Amino acid sequence: MPAFDVAALRARFPALSIEQGGRPVALFDGPGGTQVPDSVIEAVSRYYRESNANHDGPFLTSQRSDALVEDAHAALADLLNARDASEIKLGANMTTLTMHVARSLSATMSPGDEIVVSGLDHEANVGPWQSAAADRGITVRTVPIRPDDVTLDVEAFDKLLHARPKLVAFGWASNAFGTINPVAELVRRAHEAGALTYVDAVHAAPHLPIDVQAVGTDFLACSAYKFFGPHVGVLYGRQEALDALPTYKLRPAHDRFETGTGNFEGYAGARAAVEYLAEVGRAYGTQFAAQFSALAVGRRRDAHAGMAAIRAYEMGLFGRLLDGLEAIPGVRVWGVTDRARMAERTPTVAITLAHATPEEASTALGHRGIATWWGDFYAVGPVERLGLQPDGVLRIGLTHYNTIDEVDRLLDDLREIAAAT
Ligand SMILES: Cc1ncc(COP(=O)(O)O)c(C=O)c1O
Repeated sequence: MPAFDVAALRARFPALSIEQGGRPVALFDGPGGTQVPDSVIEAVSRYYRESNANHDGPFLTSQRSDALVEDAHAALADLLNARDASEIKLGANMTTLTMHVARSLSATMSPGDEIVVSGLDHEANVGPWQSAAADRGITVRTVPIRPDDVTLDVEAFDKLLHARPKLVAFGWASNAFGTINPVAELVRRAHEAGALTYVDAVHAAPHLPIDVQAVGTDFLACSAYKFFGPHVGVLYGRQEALDALPTYKLRPAHDRFETGTGNFEGYAGARAAVEYLAEVGRAYGTQFAAQFSALAVGRRRDAHAGMAAIRAYEMGLFGRLLDGLEAIPGVRVWGVTDRARMAERTPTVAITLAHATPEEASTALGHRGIATWWGDFYAVGPVERLGLQPDGVLRIGLTHYNTIDEVDRLLDDLREIAAAT
């Protein structure tokens, strides 16, 4: 099998050749949103050229559109290993879908019931539950984090389960610190306590194979623009869990979760993003395919093998980034840094510098054509808990299209910025 050919994959992403100051930009802003390959761009524009119509019409363009929309659901079911495409609901973004589910789920609860949220999460998996709970007199408890390695405090998690909450919401991985939670184990414990689970996989999806059946969660949400697709939110709901939810819906509408006319061109692009990941799997993931032998052959197994190949490549690159960051005087790396525990993180890292604010460092990098983010990225809970407000952190996010040269360039520039300020 050929080695992971990052140059060949980069050639698929037109935005990677954007230049600033006479050289290509280096994009480490993936956790905020990734670039898209040519096939995704083409799928969106082909939708407009060949299939643009509302659904359920007795004519060609509508039939083409419906077929694409149906296969988009099937593609996302493949990516997440859902049992059936009917367990996939598409919407504007993860936040909007989560607000919808939070309103529905809280309608099944009574005053005095409890919801547990995570202190490591993005607000999108916290705020919707808090707002829905406030409407109904439901109590929300927060699992604290362990500040030393920015992981979820699993003992505290267990204690909160003693009150037998109705729902436990937590992330697969932190978009600010890269921490990966022991998802299957947390789901198992929550289920033992009688709770439903809602997992935010927005940050995990571009970095890891996701298998909703293996982890057993009731709900999981992610966003295609974080995994090389367009701005489309994706909700997985175990069929029985979806069926049990009351929803607001228009009388003639056939779906209770996908309200109004969909972003069909976006769905076509999201489908193409999964196809792209499956292509990566066919090209570079055959050595990982055996891990996924229980999955159906074809796009499902290929996309999972693609994600495994991406994970292996990214974490190799991340090792170089982490070594380099730790060698820069004045740089503090937050989160899991123990080399024996790299399985517990994504290649997203949060740092602070002794003599520059995250904003100053990120702005200086931006002037040099290097994209990073600073602040809290809506991961308000952990950034507050670590005492890092109001400046937040500088976030560097690797994706599978980053290269060793880009990492070295970033480290060189960061070294200068850290020394000059
Ligand atoms: C971990 C995480 N969860 C949720 C969200 C919200 O996703 P969306 O923009 O699709 O609402 C983000 C976006 O940055 C995120 O990183």
